[in-house]
Amino acid sequence: MSSDRPHHVVLGITGGIAAYKAPEILRQLQQRGAEVRVVLTRAATHFIGRVTLEALSRHPVVVEMFEPGANIVIRHVEMARWADLLLVAPATARTLARFAHGLADDFLATLYLSVRCPVLLAPAMDAEMWENAATQENLARLRQRGVAVIPPERGYLASGVEGEGRLAEPEQIVARALVILAARPYVRDLEGEHVLITAGPTCEDLDPIRYLTNRSTGKMGYALAHAALARGARVTLISGPTALLPPPDAETIFVRRAEQMYRAVLSHMERATIILKAAAVADYQPKTFSTAKLKKTEADLMLALERTPDILAELGRRKGSRVLVGFAAETDAHLEHGRRKLIEKNLDLILVNDAASAETGFAADENAGFLLDREGHVVELPRMSKYEMAMRILDRVRELLAQRGRLEQRGERPR
Ligand code: CTP
Repeated sequence: MSSDRPHHVVLGITGGIAAYKAPEILRQLQQRGAEVRVVLTRAATHFIGRVTLEALSRHPVVVEMFEPGANIVIRHVEMARWADLLLVAPATARTLARFAHGLADDFLATLYLSVRCPVLLAPAMDAEMWENAATQENLARLRQRGVAVIPPERGYLASGVEGEGRLAEPEQIVARALVILAARPYVRDLEGEHVLITAGPTCEDLDPIRYLTNRSTGKMGYALAHAALARGARVTLISGPTALLPPPDAETIFVRRAEQMYRAVLSHMERATIILKAAAVADYQPKTFSTAKLKKTEADLMLALERTPDILAELGRRKGSRVLVGFAAETDAHLEHGRRKLIEKNLDLILVNDAASAETGFAADENAGFLLDREGHVVELPRMSKYEMAMRILDRVRELLAQRGRLEQRGERPR
């Protein structure tokens, strides 16, 4: 995106009572210098007048997919290319479901499938609908694909009760939109790179029924895969057991044990230019595996465990000119442990986070931590979605690649 033109925002408005707040969002975006085009769902037209929005945006408002005289194919493709951000406010439960399942049954849902720019959703609905497992699952699926969400607030709802479901304040929505627009003009800056990512836990089997594992869910590693794909990289994802759907465009290899992950990583590292080791690999495995179920006795049971291969340390020895990023989940002396692992395992970057935090640790949708490099820089990454964090990590990887390019041009050997 060139810096001399205003930001282009498509504002999608769906059919909830909070649609009456959408003109305020539109006006505030305009006041902050953005150009806004509006798309309404048919249901939204019951809550807000098309004429009002045409007057405010100074452009035709799109509702129907098929309108006489308009070339619909060109229209949604063109609008998708035009947009720097697709903001949907309010987003109803129905629209979350349509987006989550790729149901292109009107102009807005078709546009959602066509855009390659960031998407920001501001849901608003009745508290029961918001809390429903179906809505929460749809949201989790969208977040996993990199969609940003401003959750609704608690407050007085149109149904007359107090609860969670009220559209976030227009100021907040606009502020978040501007952060997304300013922070990262959408770029495919990893085209030509091949990113190898490990994700999730490993499971070390004791017998056909029991195994040792950890609390990793794979969310951070999968977010990295989505983010790297969005920036144009080829992605190989080596995943331990998780409940997540891998991105369809990634080459995904499923493994179970640390030893299998070790072999898969080594046999796929050749083509990789960037390696992101987000997996929580078990450090120990049972010394023996019993093919028959272990039976209980009256005595205490002692498990004999042996070390698994340290995949990251091996990669550190073999990495050549690849950028190697490690992850460390710590409960104390975070920076100290992080620095030691960075040097001992010959990494370029390490993300250290707090494993003890419920909001940002294992299984959470958000993360926070410190990104350390070999020059001793420590960048604090405050609490943000795992996708945004993935983007921040890739920004830093991109800088390292650019630095290396400069060194190579000058005939110096990168470290
Ligand atoms: N890791 C690995 N292979 C292992 C263990 C860990 O590749 N067998 C990688 C993880 O993918 C992660 C990093 O090492 O990127 C840090 O993992 P962590 O368990 O925190 O570090 P350890 O080196 O195992 O150190 P410690 O157990 O002392 O904290």
